[in-house]
Formats: sequence, structure tokens, C-alpha cells
Amino acid sequence: MVAKMFEELENKIVFVVGSFQGIGKAVAATFLKEKATVIAADIAYENKDLEEQSEKLYAVNVDVSNEQQVRKTFAQLEEKGLVPDILVHVAGISTMDYFSESKSEDFQRNWEINTKGFYLTAKYYTKFLKTKKRKGKIIVVDSQAGKNGYRAMSAYVASKHAVLGLVKTLALEVAKDSINVNAVCPGIIETEMKHRERIEGGKIRGLTPEEVQAEDNSQVPLGRTGTPQDVANVVLFLGSHLSDYMTGQAINVTGGMTMN
Ligand SMILES: NC(=O)c1ccc[n+]([C@@H]2O[C@H](COP(=O)([O-])OP(=O)(O)OC[C@H]3O[C@@H](n4cnc5c(N)ncnc54)[C@H](O)[C@@H]3O)[C@@H](O)[C@H]2O)c1
Repeated sequence: MVAKMFEELENKIVFVVGSFQGIGKAVAATFLKEKATVIAADIAYENKDLEEQSEKLYAVNVDVSNEQQVRKTFAQLEEKGLVPDILVHVAGISTMDYFSESKSEDFQRNWEINTKGFYLTAKYYTKFLKTKKRKGKIIVVDSQAGKNGYRAMSAYVASKHAVLGLVKTLALEVAKDSINVNAVCPGIIETEMKHRERIEGGKIRGLTPEEVQAEDNSQVPLGRTGTPQDVANVVLFLGSHLSDYMTGQAINVTGGMTMN
């Protein structure tokens, strides 16, 4: 009899950071469907101290840019005897403005949440795995903005390029510990973040959100923008044994929009 492709996930613990909405929510739901135990973390889960929601789901409130909170979350996992086999870091923000008009505070915010946030969760997770002598997988949802420039998004673009630098360096350092580190680089995905960007980006370019959306659709070779599930499917693959021989990679999920 042929084994189900992802049967192994039934015994795995997946820590999904940034799972309240959008891509992270789809990632958490996808692993739950595979019967994995999911620890769902987000800044939007106010005041949740690693709360058990069901046998297979825990929710915890954490601001990824806050080192003390990230450290405390891993301490709570240790106390409960929960050692994640997979970390999926999805949490992120974006801001829009032309380079010369942009605010230093926005630059800082993108850096703190997108880059330092991943740095902190990946740092404490690898430390945790090493003390437990366990292997693991780290997957970060980066962006095609980690590979290309985009008008009016300099702070976001810079923060996402930096994440890929962390992925490549960490992948080299922890390969000997059997920890794989990979990134997924989505293109245009229909989430709250994208809808807000169409309003804000449209405003500074003198376009309606509908006009920006039409432009978005026309830029994708496969003819449509992406869904959170399109991204979650590739995260699922990277979380499974099928990706065991991959590390330090940045996989595009862009409908062909980015090919490098
Ligand atoms: N939507 C797109 O088109 C697109 C494209 C490429 C990459 N991405 C990336 O995918 C990721 C998810 O984006 P999305 O579109 O689902 O966005 P979203 O805004 O819908 O969801 C982001 C999630 O991150 C959480 N979050 C934000 N700041 C946090 C913090 N400091 N600590 C913990 N959690 C925090 C939010 O509460 C939210 O649940 C982001 O990293 C984004 O940069 C999105």
C-alpha cells in the first residue's frame, strides 16, 4: 500500500508565527488539515499565554520584534514540553511611499518586524533545537520583493532582501545539525495587506484600487493573482520530507512574475 504523502505530519508540531490572518492563517489551517499540532502565534492574539484551543491547536500572543517576548514564548514551549519540528515565520508588515518622501520611522518598522522579527524567531528556535539535539525545518515567508525593486516600497524591499541574507547564512551554519532553512517568495497574494497596499499605493500614484488591481492581474503570466492557499501549499511541501535535500533556497510562488 502506498503511504499517504504527508502522513508523517500527524506527529509533528508546527509553530506558525503570524497566523491570525492572510497567508499565515492559511498555513496554520493547512497543517491542521494534515493533523499536525499547530502553535499559532500572532501579535493580534491579545493576552494569550500559550493557550490550548484544542488538542491540536495552541494560540500565543507574541510581537516578533520584541526579543523578550520571543524568548518568553520559547520558554513557555519548553515548560509545556512542546518542541516544534517546523517553524514557519510569516509575520510581516509593509509601508508605501516614494524613497525621498518616506519616513525613517517606517524604515525602522519594516526592519524591526520583517527582518529582526525573523532573526529573533529563527535564533531562539535554532538554540532550542540544539539544546534538545533535535533536527528541524525553518521556513520564512519572504517576498519577490526580496529579489526585485518595487516603486514606493524601499523600506519593505530592503527588509525582505535582508531576510534572504539571514536565510542563506543560517542555512550554512545549521546544516550540520540537520536543520533546513528555506524561504518562500510570494508574488501578489489577495490578503488584507495587499488590499491596503492597493489603496495606499493607488493614492500616491493617482490610481483607484481597482485600477491597481487590473494592473496587478496583467503582470502575472499565469493570468491571476495568488491566494493564501497557493503559498501554504509550497510551505507544506517545504515542511515535509519531500524537501529534505533543500536548504538555503528562496522559492518563488508568483504565477511566473519573478523567475530568478
Ligand atoms: N500579500 C502579499 O501579496 C504578499 C506578497 C509577498 C509576501 N508577503 C508576505 O507574507 C507575509 C504575510 O502577509 P499577508 O499578506 O498575509 O499579510 P497580513 O497583513 O494579512 O497578515 C500578516 C500577519 O502578521 C501579523 N503580524 C504583524 N506584525 C506582527 C508582529 N510584530 N508580531 C507578530 N505578528 C505580527 C499580523 O497580525 C497578521 O496576522 C508577510 O511577511 C508579507 O510580507 C505577502
